[in-house]
Amino acid sequence: MLEHRRLGKTDEKIAAIGLGTWRIGGDMTPDYSADKQAIEAIRYAVRLGMNHIDTAEIYGGGHAEELVGEAVKEFRRDEVFITSKVWHTNLKYDDVLKACERSLRRLRTSYIDLYLIHWPNPSIPLSETMRALERLHDEGKIRYIGVSNFTADLVEEARSYLSHADIVANQVEYSLYERSIERDLMPYCSETGVTVIAYSPLGHGRIHRELSSRLDKRMRALREVAERYSKTPIQVALNWVIWHEHVIAIPKSTRREHLEENAGAAGWRLDERDYKLLAEAWG
Ligand SMILES: NC(=O)c1ccc[n+]([C@@H]2O[C@H](COP(=O)([O-])OP(=O)(O)OC[C@H]3O[C@@H](n4cnc5c(N)ncnc54)[C@H](OP(=O)(O)O)[C@@H]3O)[C@@H](O)[C@H]2O)c1
Repeated sequence: MLEHRRLGKTDEKIAAIGLGTWRIGGDMTPDYSADKQAIEAIRYAVRLGMNHIDTAEIYGGGHAEELVGEAVKEFRRDEVFITSKVWHTNLKYDDVLKACERSLRRLRTSYIDLYLIHWPNPSIPLSETMRALERLHDEGKIRYIGVSNFTADLVEEARSYLSHADIVANQVEYSLYERSIERDLMPYCSETGVTVIAYSPLGHGRIHRELSSRLDKRMRALREVAERYSKTPIQVALNWVIWHEHVIAIPKSTRREHLEENAGAAGWRLDERDYKLLAEAWG
């Protein structure tokens, strides 16, 4: 089984490396072969143990959720952990409830494991959104509540509007390229038991494109460390992202060989010296 980590302060265990679904399948325009590839990729990821599937109502105008629903129907429901997100224009009380119903229909399931506010929206009171999420939670339509792209202060505010549930995760961009969360958000999440779900952990695939550069000292460091551990540079980059116990990642891929490579990024750990070496090289 792929390495799992504790979700927030719950007893739930969640795959340290999951699967993103932004821009999978035919997106807005119908494309049968892209859809087929996406469904097969999701199924393969689950078989590899990357059973945390991240999606959102906005991805492909809902099509990504449909593909996830189609893919996971061949598994028992509790063999997959589905995260989805409500878009920032749907954060009024009734809109959240309706958005969730639509997602449930597209995903062909009676519950979403983790439901996130995709982006904050300052023009809609956060208290209203949190009340709606708590209702969905109480009705069993979502198992856990989370947020995405929230600052530490905003997570704290969102928490204050929940009467009995808690925020278990904050999904934010985190990779060797994008490390701005390290200053405030990472320590806040570690101290208060909020899982950080790292999105775009490969810099939207940029690492792969730049790896062959001989002159780039950051890539040289990545290649050297990878050689020492007999891992690939991509595996090292992902392992670096999930180095802290409260962080998990959701790289997107629709290729079998990439999915296998990404699954191999968990289950071992860079030693502290190499973790810091990379942090400094990429500083
Ligand atoms: N909450 C938010 O606001 C937010 C924002 C952005 C993304 N997300 C979520 O995070 C997920 C991941 O982020 P992302 O899609 O932006 O970027 P990413 O995971 O950093 O990179 C994806 C790119 O990397 C390539 N790739 C994956 N594994 C690879 C490997 N082993 N070797 C070489 N290339 C590899 C993929 O191509 P192949 O398919 O060809 O492998 C794809 O082009 C999204 O799919 C989405 O679910 C959330």
